[in-house]
Amino acid sequence: MSTVFNFTFVPWFRSVAPYIHMHRGKTFVVAMAGEAIAAGKLQNIAQDLALIQSMGVKVVLVHGFRPQVNEQLKAKGHEAKYSHGMRITDAVALDCAQEAAGQLRYEIEAAFSQGLPNTPMAGSTVRVISGNFITARPVGVVDGVDFKHSGLVRKVDTAGIRRALDFGAMVLISPFGFSPTGEAFNLTMEEVATSVAIGIQADKLIFLTEIPGIAQDPAHPISEDNPIDTELPLAAAQKLLTTLAPPQNPTDTAFYLQHCVKACVGGVERNHILPFSVDGSLLLEVYVHDGIGTMVVDEKLESLREATVDDIGGILQLIEPFERDGTLVKRDRTEIERDVDHYTVIEHDGVIFGCAALYPYPEARTGEMAALTVSANVQSQGDGERILKRIEQRAKVMGLDSIFVLTTRTMHWFIKRGFQMVDPDWLPEARKRKYNWDRKSQVLVKKL
Ligand SMILES: CC(C)(COP(=O)(O)OP(=O)(O)OC[C@H]1O[C@@H](n2cnc3c(N)ncnc32)[C@H](O)[C@@H]1OP(=O)(O)O)[C@@H](O)C(=O)NCCC(=O)NCCS
Repeated sequence: MSTVFNFTFVPWFRSVAPYIHMHRGKTFVVAMAGEAIAAGKLQNIAQDLALIQSMGVKVVLVHGFRPQVNEQLKAKGHEAKYSHGMRITDAVALDCAQEAAGQLRYEIEAAFSQGLPNTPMAGSTVRVISGNFITARPVGVVDGVDFKHSGLVRKVDTAGIRRALDFGAMVLISPFGFSPTGEAFNLTMEEVATSVAIGIQADKLIFLTEIPGIAQDPAHPISEDNPIDTELPLAAAQKLLTTLAPPQNPTDTAFYLQHCVKACVGGVERNHILPFSVDGSLLLEVYVHDGIGTMVVDEKLESLREATVDDIGGILQLIEPFERDGTLVKRDRTEIERDVDHYTVIEHDGVIFGCAALYPYPEARTGEMAALTVSANVQSQGDGERILKRIEQRAKVMGLDSIFVLTTRTMHWFIKRGFQMVDPDWLPEARKRKYNWDRKSQVLVKKL
């Protein structure tokens, strides 16, 4: 084996370790659009899910079947009928849905049963359990449209799902539900996945979809200047939804977003929209820092906020121990009083336990993140990361292209979060003049 490989593989594997630890024992609900299976992505998705499960994650997989049902309808010479963005399920469509679901379940179970040597599935043992976990009720007649056998989720058998997960199985759910009288209803996989995620209070709800995520400016197509918004705080996502027309097609911005918001409000902290077209998108989103799709996240806004003059005492108290041991440069009270508007803080019950400041250099389209600190007794709970994210958002709002930090001891923390080391010469002129050459701080930059 080449040494080059050792040098790339080992640091890479170690960089993934924190995410493996973080997700162990957590529950993910993965909602796979029927289009993903139609596009031939099932094998790869099954391999990635088997890998994720083997790293201790409990997985509920909900599959869609929109294109498969339409194909069956076409074969029977029937047309697919929709209204209000939902299928109208007449008797023929119900038949087609049952056939499509049966077929897909076989295919999915088969995909999880392979274990050929030299494939990612070698040695994997994924038990798939599916069942009647969903009780449904009819959609009924809406605005004069009779939806017939189309249904809505009435109840989720959360205890049953949990038991199957605790047994070590992967739970597979088709978008079907039954009424207490035994009548079958065709549901949408988005609603089923959202209801299941809320019901079992999953740690993540992940939609594997035909869209790459939500653009930073959703009014315009995704491009280099208008990339995917990797993280949408719940409040921002809710605001965005109010500006969008009710979705009719899965490619409409609001289509998956509305379910992410619903799940988030229902207590699912992290809700993702990922493209199935990118091979390994699940792994990239879950085990790489910046991810690849859009995550709607319930940020506890009450505790993460911009600082006010009332916080000066708290900030001083927080950073003092780190100034004393030389991790941070000394800042006096007048400096913090003058700059308090630049600070973001995390507060809990009146105590400041995290902070950072952003000093913009608009002429160089960059800004310095300074004094990033989390109180020693609450470190390693993700607060440093939350503050970093907020500073990145503030910098983006200011129109900056990057943020930089100067550090003597915390390089690795920043590198793991997308920063790159540069020469101090890179610094904006005004900052270079203040650079303390004796302190020999490393300069790290993150592009936004
Ligand atoms: C750096 C700091 C802000 C991170 O805050 P945090 O809330 O602990 O951060 P997170 O919870 O998001 O991340 C914690 C992870 O970073 C790691 N980490 C902490 N300090 C680190 C360092 N100096 N170098 C590399 N990794 C570090 C922790 O080990 C932890 O990893 P784990 O999850 O595997 O246990 C905090 O450690 C701190 O205040 N340090 C002292 C001040 C400082 O160095 N500030 C930077 C000045 S430039």
